[in-house]
Amino acid sequence: MKEVPASGAFRQLEPGPIVLVTTSYEGIPNVMTMGFHMMIQHAPPLIGCVIGPWDHTYRALRATGECVIAVPTIDLARAVVDIGNCSGDTVDKFERFGLTPQPARAVSAPLITECIANIECRVVDTRLVEAYNLFILEAERLWIDTDRKERRTLHHRGDGDFAVDGDVLDLSEHMVKWRHLPR
Ligand SMILES: Cc1cc2nc3c(=O)[nH]c(=O)nc-3n(C[C@H](O)[C@H](O)[C@H](O)COP(=O)(O)O)c2cc1C
Repeated sequence: MKEVPASGAFRQLEPGPIVLVTTSYEGIPNVMTMGFHMMIQHAPPLIGCVIGPWDHTYRALRATGECVIAVPTIDLARAVVDIGNCSGDTVDKFERFGLTPQPARAVSAPLITECIANIECRVVDTRLVEAYNLFILEAERLWIDTDRKERRTLHHRGDGDFAVDGDVLDLSEHMVKWRHLPR
């Protein structure tokens, strides 16, 4: 095996689909791209998210404690990268990228109509924000677009290099130890 810098470890452990995070700060909706997220707990559902202080989203999340995690599919690939390369400080990203904000039920941040899933989240723990920019969010509501034909999500491997969902393996019959978990 060839040794490569440990700083590339995240490429091997990519945590899930690239997502969009919406916020609403002083009534103005915004959206950013996020790859550094992970599930932490099943019930109540807790999600860890790394959002840097250089982001408009960081300040919005600090001030409001609310966001929506929206899951885009491959048709939004270019927009996903561009959304992560400009700031809500200077750009109305919903307008620029043709995204449709939709009122959420529990939080002020909007859902994104064009995404396959939207998770309404509230910040429940900020103890690791100072050390790691790591927010712990509780998922309060989940919306899925069940009619959508395109369902392939994007998985970031670094530097704008993405893997796209492919074949699906259903091994649920073997998950005997975990039947009690919420589906
Ligand atoms: C593919 C991709 C993944 C990204 N992942 C993260 C991330 O996990 N955390 C983060 O703070 N910024 C991440 N960014 C950068 C933010 O999306 C970027 O700083 C954005 O401009 C912030 O927007 P805002 O200032 O409107 O909040 C990512 C960008 C791209 C393109």
